[in-house]
Amino acid sequence: MGNSVKNLCVVGIQWGDEGKGKLVDVLTSDFDIVGRYQGGANAGHTVQIGDKEYILHLIPSGILQEGKVCAIGNGVVIDPKALIEELDHLAELGLMREDHLWISDRAHVVLPYHRALDRAKEESAGVGEKLGTTLRGIGPCYTDKASRLGLRMADLVDAKRFRALLTRNLEKKNKELVVLYGCEPLDLESIYTEYTAYADRLRSRVRDVGAFLLAESKRGAKILFEGAQGFLLDVDHGTYPFVTSSNTSFLGLGPGTGFSQRRVDTVLGVAKAYSTRVGEGPFPTELDSREGEDLRTQGKEFGATTGRPRRCGWLDMVAIRYAVGVGDVDALAVTKLDVLDGFKEIKVATRYRTTDGSEGTLPTSVDGDAEPLYETLPGWSSGVADCRRPEDLPKEALEYLQFIADEADCPIAMVSVGKERSAVVRFDPWLRPSKTSAEELSLHGKRSHG
Ligand code: GDP
Ligand code: IMO
Ligand code: MG
Repeated sequence: MGNSVKNLCVVGIQWGDEGKGKLVDVLTSDFDIVGRYQGGANAGHTVQIGDKEYILHLIPSGILQEGKVCAIGNGVVIDPKALIEELDHLAELGLMREDHLWISDRAHVVLPYHRALDRAKEESAGVGEKLGTTLRGIGPCYTDKASRLGLRMADLVDAKRFRALLTRNLEKKNKELVVLYGCEPLDLESIYTEYTAYADRLRSRVRDVGAFLLAESKRGAKILFEGAQGFLLDVDHGTYPFVTSSNTSFLGLGPGTGFSQRRVDTVLGVAKAYSTRVGEGPFPTELDSREGEDLRTQGKEFGATTGRPRRCGWLDMVAIRYAVGVGDVDALAVTKLDVLDGFKEIKVATRYRTTDGSEGTLPTSVDGDAEPLYETLPGWSSGVADCRRPEDLPKEALEYLQFIADEADCPIAMVSVGKERSAVVRFDPWLRPSKTSAEELSLHGKRSHG
């Protein structure tokens, strides 16, 4: 991203799985610390190094680069069991040191009753109400946080306090599980024994992460923040209620770390060269056709956390424009461009037409009456996987990227052309939007950026 960037935030700007993990891995070498600020083990970030594939759920992808410090902020919901499994796996691979990962004392803990409630709610949901969650207990844990019933890492590592809070909560949660959902009640003693053992494993890593980040930043450390999920899954700005339960955009960084957003100078928005979504909810450009199948097969679009096939469709610039504007994105990273190799034509939705005849931005409720209007661009005949410099890219691929930059009104900083670390094309200088007149901007309902 260039040496002038001090603190960077990398976020997804679609429905998740944009390739954030790969980009964070690539970019980590320019930073000292890598932090997460929201989400939990619902995330699945895949990094391919040589012939080895690593899938990270809770630990920032920066952990795979030698000598970097990782930090999990207070906005993340931590499933200690999932975290320890991940730590053990990395240790087996020789990738963990004791001072390598810090965990916020204020981060909320995902407990077995959160996972049980997530499953019970999904299984009992009526038609049109199922969300297709990852069943990782994310919604119920954030619900407890907001209703001030949550248990934080500081509570987990204090056995007496943990027991008292667990006893109080389990009484309420068991009532909910048994009476509302007809489930078996959960057993206090077995949860207490299992989780105090996890606490013993994690205690030495628990600290005030916000204070740590600020102190390190003041000493000159460069920090990279890794978003989880994507803008359209944001609980406030996404396709509510078909969203996750956290603020997935850059706007969640300050609250989720205790590190002021004013200290972050650049936001890199990661967008796949087409769209995917896993789980339920509106997806205006979804393809229920051979082309959708081709995208799924060529892009290997199966969830990293749940293995579910991802729904696939064309790029949606209405949604991306919205994410770039509200999410304060400075530059784009376009990923998986190689997946479009071989397509004769590529479609891009640039506007929606709604039943009332209006056009433009993402409606508050994308409930099916938003019909995407497409522009068609030519595909390219030679593959992009071996390209490493902008001038290596076929003319049509460059035109596609320029179209994206123009429609998003946002420059492109880099492009990913394969899952490997090295499969990146960097634009230096950034590929800027072509000049567009103010009149055209307003005609197309575009936001001006910056
Ligand atoms: P994340 O959740 O945003 O980190 O993304 P995921 O890891 O869930 O999904 C992205 C998938 O695409 C992973 O399997 C990556 O290995 C793969 N991937 C990332 N970038 C590229 C790329 O440029 N081309 C191809 N073909 N695969 C990629
Ligand atoms: P990464 O970080 C894609 C989706 C779920 C479901 C909705 C709510 O890998 O991009 P939740 O379990 O969070 O309550 O589920 O959000 N979802 C994701 N989709 N990538 C993710 O993470 C996701 N995390 C959650 O499929 O539709
Ligand atoms: Mg993922």
